[in-house]
Amino acid sequence: MLVSAKEMLQKAKAGHYAVGQFNINNLEWTKAILQTAQELNSPVILGVSEGAGKYMTGYKTVVGMVNGMMEELNITVPVALHLDHGSYEGCMKCIEAGFSSVMFDGSHYPIDENVAKTTELVKITAEKGMSLEAEVGSIGGEEDGVVGKGECADPQECKSIADLGVTMLAAGIGNIHGKYPENWEGLSFETLDAIQQLTGEMPLVLHGGTGIPEDMIKKAISLGVAKINVNTECQLAFADATRKYVEAGKDLEGKGFDPRKLLAPGAEAIKATVKEKMELFGSVGKA
Ligand code: 13P
Repeated sequence: MLVSAKEMLQKAKAGHYAVGQFNINNLEWTKAILQTAQELNSPVILGVSEGAGKYMTGYKTVVGMVNGMMEELNITVPVALHLDHGSYEGCMKCIEAGFSSVMFDGSHYPIDENVAKTTELVKITAEKGMSLEAEVGSIGGEEDGVVGKGECADPQECKSIADLGVTMLAAGIGNIHGKYPENWEGLSFETLDAIQQLTGEMPLVLHGGTGIPEDMIKKAISLGVAKINVNTECQLAFADATRKYVEAGKDLEGKGFDPRKLLAPGAEAIKATVKEKMELFGSVGKA
């Protein structure tokens, strides 16, 4: 059964480790992540962007697939199904469809509007026993080929949003989605430290987990990060393994074109990436 991310993240914050959010795109992704979490006895959060939700034909399909797979694979570790960077409408749809967690990304609204919309969602998600992630200070990334610089959130604004009663808070600290550019300045630990001092127990979320050096990940966890989002890295690992399979001509050998064979190296690559991250984040054995 899907669970809210609340308990797993509060435990992670208190235990100084982080739970990984791995974004899913299809059955192979979901299966690889669930199997790895179970093998490593780790809690896990499955992230679904609005685009990925649409790709999988809608949130109800996603809920059906994940619930069915958990039952068939006997997954007993805590699993949260979470909407990633949701709009207000997207959150409402996922609440309706049976997700156990949502992120409302109101970071592009003026702070008052972000507060108003987040307040409404705090009420609705609490009634359903779901977790809610809010965001302050937008997280940059590649848009139309231009890589933005990661913005740093205002710690006071973080406190205002945290005080509304959200479960976890994503705050920009110079992190961006996708690959980091050569001249990236790194995470702003000064900002993170200031945010944690004001928000206390609140589990903090680090987006853009792909490509952040290990020492920075560890330092971020020591400063209160309890959830780390990883998406691009699994995509790169999947694409690389699939390319190698095709370049080696394996799809032309015997029944190598069978999708169950063609997609297997990519799925194994996702598993290896998820394992590496769970070990780095410290969530292994914490289910
Ligand atoms: P990456 O794609 O950079 O790993 O970021 C994932 C993320 O933050 C999803 O919200």
